[in-house]
Amino acid sequence: MTMSDSPVMKAIYERRSIRQFLDGAVSRDSVMEAVKAACWAPSGLNNQPWRFAIVWDTACKEALGGLTRYSATLKSAALLVVVLLDKEASYDRTKDCQAIGACVQNMLLSFHAMDLGAVWIGEILKNGERVVEILKLPERLELMAVVAVGHPAHRNQKSHRRPVEELIVLEK
Ligand SMILES: Cc1cc2nc3c(=O)[nH]c(=O)nc-3n(C[C@H](O)[C@H](O)[C@H](O)COP(=O)(O)O)c2cc1C
Repeated sequence: MTMSDSPVMKAIYERRSIRQFLDGAVSRDSVMEAVKAACWAPSGLNNQPWRFAIVWDTACKEALGGLTRYSATLKSAALLVVVLLDKEASYDRTKDCQAIGACVQNMLLSFHAMDLGAVWIGEILKNGERVVEILKLPERLELMAVVAVGHPAHRNQKSHRRPVEELIVLEK
């Protein structure tokens, strides 16, 4: 098996942000599997600072949709996974945010591996406190991301990356 045949490498390269979803149920088991995989991300001191709120409720999705210009994506998603930092579990804000980034990537790759679509919504962070209020969560939780999930309306989403040669600033 060459490296590019590896399912992990394939998922890394083939995953795309999906912003339009078809109607259709997503099983709770798939969501729990993706959240579990998210929790297997590395974290500094293994402090696992991530917390999750899973939103299936239509009215609640609409309320959260009102807090971002990606409202159409949030409303058409089968569910939202709201990813939060537990400030009481935090030991170093930078490292905790990095760990949560790794956690979200694990989740996106897991949904992709299950043939579901997902997108990381960061634009809603400007209204992070409102999200916490709407969900009636404790103030020690701080919004880090919303992941919208559903069945992809299409899979022809293209993306690009700069060549690595432009990005490696030193090799010696
Ligand atoms: C921190 C972060 C915030 C993002 N916020 C948004 C967002 O608010 N809305 C959105 O549609 N995509 C958002 N994205 C997805 C990026 O636009 C997307 O990953 C990028 O364009 C590359 O496309 P690809 O994921 O399909 O490869 C975000 C991604 C990251 C990592």
